[in-house]
Amino acid sequence: MKKEITFILNQEEVKAEVQPEWTLLYFLREVLGLTGTKEGCGYGECGACTVIVDGKAINSCLYPILEVEGKSVTTIEGIISRDGELHDLQKSFIEHGAVQCGFCTPGMIMSAKALIDEKEKPTVDEIRHTIAGNLCRCTGYVKIIDAIKSVVDRR
Ligand code: FES
Ligand code: FES
Repeated sequence: MKKEITFILNQEEVKAEVQPEWTLLYFLREVLGLTGTKEGCGYGECGACTVIVDGKAINSCLYPILEVEGKSVTTIEGIISRDGELHDLQKSFIEHGAVQCGFCTPGMIMSAKALIDEKEKPTVDEIRHTIAGNLCRCTGYVKIIDAIKSVVDRR
């Protein structure tokens, strides 16, 4: 039986009827059509589905939709400014060639965003630790870490 939930998604209120067994990832992609958040493994191993809930990066493939009640969710679609300007992390990933196939990129950026929102000057070790749960099969990680570090260094 469906239940009603209310939460904030990318700074706008969402009210919806959901099936209790849905994950947040399913709701974002299949119900709302927000396909920026990717589904890789589907069981918490790859980080492709990372979004931010109340300031923390989480795997949306494991997050029950009913748990978002009253919370604030940010997806990759929500970090672009209202006039369409990319977030500094997105610009830096492009500048550093940190995107190849791009499948891991939204999750990487959301993990990095949660870190730099919480801490102004994280160390390289902290950046590495933060993205340890985000798998990339293309870039070898060096350019991704450089891209994040560059945003931190410019602060
Ligand atoms: S799809 Fe969620 S961790 Fe892989
Ligand atoms: S850019 Fe292809 S998986 Fe990371």
